[in-house]
Amino acid sequence: MDIKKIGVLGAGIMGSGIAQICAEAGYEVVLVDIAEAFVNKGFQGIVKNWTKAVEKGKRTAEDLEKFKALITTSLDNKDFKDCDVVIEAIVENIDVKKKVFKELGEICKDSAVLATNTSALSITEIGTASCRPQSVVGMHFFNPVPAMKLVEVIPGAETSEETVAIVTELAVKIGKEPVRAKETPGFIVNRLLVPYMNEAAMLYQEGIPAEEIDKAMKLGANMPMGPLALADLVGLDTLLMICDYYWREFGDSKYRASLALRNKVRAGHLGRKTGKGFYDYTK
Ligand code: CAA
Ligand code: NAD
Repeated sequence: MDIKKIGVLGAGIMGSGIAQICAEAGYEVVLVDIAEAFVNKGFQGIVKNWTKAVEKGKRTAEDLEKFKALITTSLDNKDFKDCDVVIEAIVENIDVKKKVFKELGEICKDSAVLATNTSALSITEIGTASCRPQSVVGMHFFNPVPAMKLVEVIPGAETSEETVAIVTELAVKIGKEPVRAKETPGFIVNRLLVPYMNEAAMLYQEGIPAEEIDKAMKLGANMPMGPLALADLVGLDTLLMICDYYWREFGDSKYRASLALRNKVRAGHLGRKTGKGFYDYTK
């Protein structure tokens, strides 16, 4: 497939990163969210990253202008109608994703591939909601998108091999390394990484300071950042939604979410994106 235009739904942490790297690879991008404030914040974050790259001498001022011109923002999913691929990166909630994929199935052209950046949810369930499950696939990026090499490609039960091939090739074109994963909650990386972050939150609940837990894992296991700093980067709401999904899907008590995590989400402390989580980013 000759991909020219890519739609990205959701301009948050992940959607903005995906839009950034797609524009860098020369694709036209339509970035959509539900409110002007969200698309503006996402777009400004992208421009900030490019400005830093220019300052570091990794990009030129001309690159920045060229990339900026490739992204248009919108509040209307109908603007995806002529996109070849749409990548969804909205809230990790199956009901919201199903509603959105039903709409995408009605709006997008027949040949379009509809990808979801879900962290853990069922690709088959999302595909069924779209009424064109052969064209729906998991395309799971990692945070921060511009810095992380991996994309997990996850077929659902009805996904065609042609759809898998299209997103696998696209992942390479936007500078990523694809790995094919199976449709199981959390696929490969999050099946391992989410229980690790949740267990760190359990230790925190038992009274060990966040700084100590993170220092231990950085120095004792050579992690680039500690599990609680990573949880704050991911977003505690997203992390909790994934934990609760594992709990429901597996019915195994080892996937119970830490109360410390749940209470931070209840208090609205979602990590870096709200300024507070296991750490305070407002100071
Ligand atoms: N946005 C965009 N780019 C960023 C960034 C951000 N928030 N943070 C770092 N980068 C880029 C920098 O611009 C830099 O790029 P260049 O080399 O082109 O200049 C590069 O990343 C390295 O950055 P730094 O040198 O400033 O920082 P670092 O060496 O300390 O690395 C890190 C930062 C890449 C975030 C590193 O700490 C790391 O790898 N942390 C672990 C991240 C991780 O595990 N992510 C997975 C989370 S789980 C997930 O994503 C799945 C899910 O579904 C929840
Ligand atoms: P986020 O909270 O930063 O952003 C989500 C965005 O989606 C918000 O701007 C919100 O306004 C928008 N949105 C919500 N409902 C919408 C709708 N119906 N239509 C259009 N926009 C809508 O979340 P995020 O961290 O970017 O996560 C997005 C998706 O990516 C989730 O499925 C998450 O599990 C997955 N993911 C997250 C990470 C991570 O580390 N944060 C990594 C990989 C995958």
